[in-house]
Amino acid sequence: MEITIIHGQMHKGSTYHITELLKNKIITQETVVHEFYLPKDMPHPCNGCFQCIKKGEQYCPHYEKVNKIVQAMEKSEVILIDSPTYCFSMTGQLKTVFDHFGFMWLTHRPNASMFHKNGIAISTAAGAGAKKVTRTIKEQFFWMGLSKCYQIPITVGASSWDEVSRKKKNKIEKITDHIAKKVQKKKEPSLRLKFLFLLFRLTQKGNEWNATDKNYWQEKGWLEKERPWK
Ligand SMILES: Cc1cc2nc3c(=O)[nH]c(=O)nc-3n(C[C@H](O)[C@H](O)[C@H](O)COP(=O)(O)O)c2cc1C
Repeated sequence: MEITIIHGQMHKGSTYHITELLKNKIITQETVVHEFYLPKDMPHPCNGCFQCIKKGEQYCPHYEKVNKIVQAMEKSEVILIDSPTYCFSMTGQLKTVFDHFGFMWLTHRPNASMFHKNGIAISTAAGAGAKKVTRTIKEQFFWMGLSKCYQIPITVGASSWDEVSRKKKNKIEKITDHIAKKVQKKKEPSLRLKFLFLLFRLTQKGNEWNATDKNYWQEKGWLEKERPWK
């Protein structure tokens, strides 16, 4: 098994420690772990040049760094993304990476390998907002074709892992035990995902705006009988 972990931060605080706990419950000696830290592994904001969407992702000025992450995700059964809650949102550096995945959205050129993967979204907040962050990460996963995302939003009531109470840490142990068991099973794409795929298939059929997208759907056979989840 392979797993990709994208840390929406560089430091090793509460969010990182919860991810570590879960990771160690999921992996075995054979597991290949691809781990990325932001912004080190993808420091560039999107320029808005539209090259990825209109010409192809390889024309993105940040392609080399983005592609390293995409290749790791393609090979992985599980993709785990974490972020501390900053002002009720994910970190800016994580959003920057998601912007670079826009070309892979259902509306453009979804990556067929994503449709059977499990996603995990982890966020911690001192008081409020962690659920909003994991929900947003889940939404990003969905638009990339991952219909199953386990959310772990934790209100730690602390600004560092050392400050997190023993009671809270025991609860985190239980939650990570539970998710570690669930995530091992492959999931079928949801009906909502299939429905939206078919809807965008119709828009691609009539697409006169973006030949790169339309050709991609055509080459995959998705405008005919082929489907990415088969
Ligand atoms: C810039 C910044 C913004 C924050 N915004 C929020 C917030 O909106 N809601 C909240 O409850 N905590 C907020 N916090 C606190 C952190 O989310 C919380 O301490 C979190 O557990 C930190 O995770 P970490 O230890 O992985 O860095 C913020 C912290 C920082 C540094």
